Amino acid sequence: MPDDQVAQRKPDASAFVIFGVTGDLAHRLVVPSLYNLAAADLLPDKFCVVGVARNGMSNDDLRDSLMKGLRQFATRPVDDTVAKRLLECVTCIEADPKDPASFDAMRERLEKLETNRSTGGNRLFYLATPPGAFAPIARELGRTGLLREENGAWRRLVVEKPFGTDLASARALNGDLLKILDEHQIYRIDHYLGKETVQNILVLRFANGMFEPIWNRNHIDHVQITVDEKLGVGHRGSFYDSTGALRDMVPNHLFQLLSLVAMEPPARFDAHTVRSEKAEVLAAIQTQSEADALKNSVRGQYQRGIIDGVEMPDYQKTTDVKPDSTTETFVALKLAIDNWRWAGVPFYLRTGKALGLKRTEVAIKFKEVPFKMFACTPVDRLSQNYLVISIEPTEGITLQFNTKVPGPAITIDGVEMKFRYKDYFKAEPATGYETLIYDCMIGDNILFQRADGVEAGWQAVQPFLDCWNKAGAKGLEYYKAGSEGPACADELLKRDGRSWRKL
Ligand code: BG6
Repeated sequence: MPDDQVAQRKPDASAFVIFGVTGDLAHRLVVPSLYNLAAADLLPDKFCVVGVARNGMSNDDLRDSLMKGLRQFATRPVDDTVAKRLLECVTCIEADPKDPASFDAMRERLEKLETNRSTGGNRLFYLATPPGAFAPIARELGRTGLLREENGAWRRLVVEKPFGTDLASARALNGDLLKILDEHQIYRIDHYLGKETVQNILVLRFANGMFEPIWNRNHIDHVQITVDEKLGVGHRGSFYDSTGALRDMVPNHLFQLLSLVAMEPPARFDAHTVRSEKAEVLAAIQTQSEADALKNSVRGQYQRGIIDGVEMPDYQKTTDVKPDSTTETFVALKLAIDNWRWAGVPFYLRTGKALGLKRTEVAIKFKEVPFKMFACTPVDRLSQNYLVISIEPTEGITLQFNTKVPGPAITIDGVEMKFRYKDYFKAEPATGYETLIYDCMIGDNILFQRADGVEAGWQAVQPFLDCWNKAGAKGLEYYKAGSEGPACADELLKRDGRSWRKL
């Protein structure tokens, strides 16, 4: 949610059209976020929400279902007056991209609604559907002219992840969308960019003078990006088994973190410049040969174990997962960025499900001192200098450094300087989508992925997909649910004389 110290402008009058309104995403995130925006008085004064479902339902049934979702998923106690005001704006329309006539009918109904509600023809189409429906829906919206920007009205399309399943499909999807829309109309969501701490990486780097001079290969030894989850695959077996940890997390969430940490300082804080710098650094990730990709990657799959006292079954025994599945639920990668700032500085990435700890963080490891000045304190016994940007569960920044232990002798120990968001700022609990939805409504696409950035990300992960595809089960390591992941992940760093940061 935007900081209320900054004057927030209300978005233009508009229609907010949700495809897949009966689904999990709409109930769990989109509508609770609209509710939080309504509670903060940040929805347009003239507004309507259109829920598009393949099988129509009455407005009342849809409103009841969304209200139930709100009660279950709202991030704060639901104020019935605010909820009622929001849900009164909801209308259900039936449309299926397989039935073009239904889109023609939708156009007519939408236009009538827009006139009644005086929304001025501004429209935001939110695709909260399975990815296979993105292009067909966009094509129908294009054919019916619903996306054409005319008479001063804006038309925008919000696309959820996953954006493609490899480089070729991401290119094809971009190609399909760009035939119908201009890039400025497309909002490719990555919910990591809605997280306060993720946005704060830009502020930390570019609103403080002391970090930038040391933010390079002269001072930084390596960077670790960790997204560990305790959750298993749960009810998402069918999606996950054809996706895996690499596709699910790396080209999107982990690369968003990487690009914010590694990008060059943008000359201006506007969407074009910031997204150009992010795309540039993603394009500079070395495209590895398949042999190198095999050497520089680790994949694991979880097996039965205990997490917080609850038994997690084998991944292969999850509903809708193939019993002989070789899909990875853990991945660790070593990447290189080929530019002057980062040449020779490895970026180690890891993410996995069913691990013993929930932790999302970026750890910048600075180079060690060059020589041991203090007697009896060998360089290798000094505590390591890390700057840690913690994203979850704690939100904050920690700097680790060495200090003298009080007493007559020079004894050195490692200490931490900690900043915790909650100690300084009072923020209402939020879904993380509020900022993103608000930005779509005001037309600010700085926090959304551009076509070139998405493709650069897939370009970097494609060699890993290819080499694993050929290797099959060979090289897949099993790990116990509740553990730290496969042992090979430690080897990946150990062979470079490094280790993952422990808590
Ligand atoms: C989603 C992935 O995009 O991100 C999930 O599909 C994953 O598998 C989730 O659990 C992680 O998000 P967060 O915000 O909990 O780190």
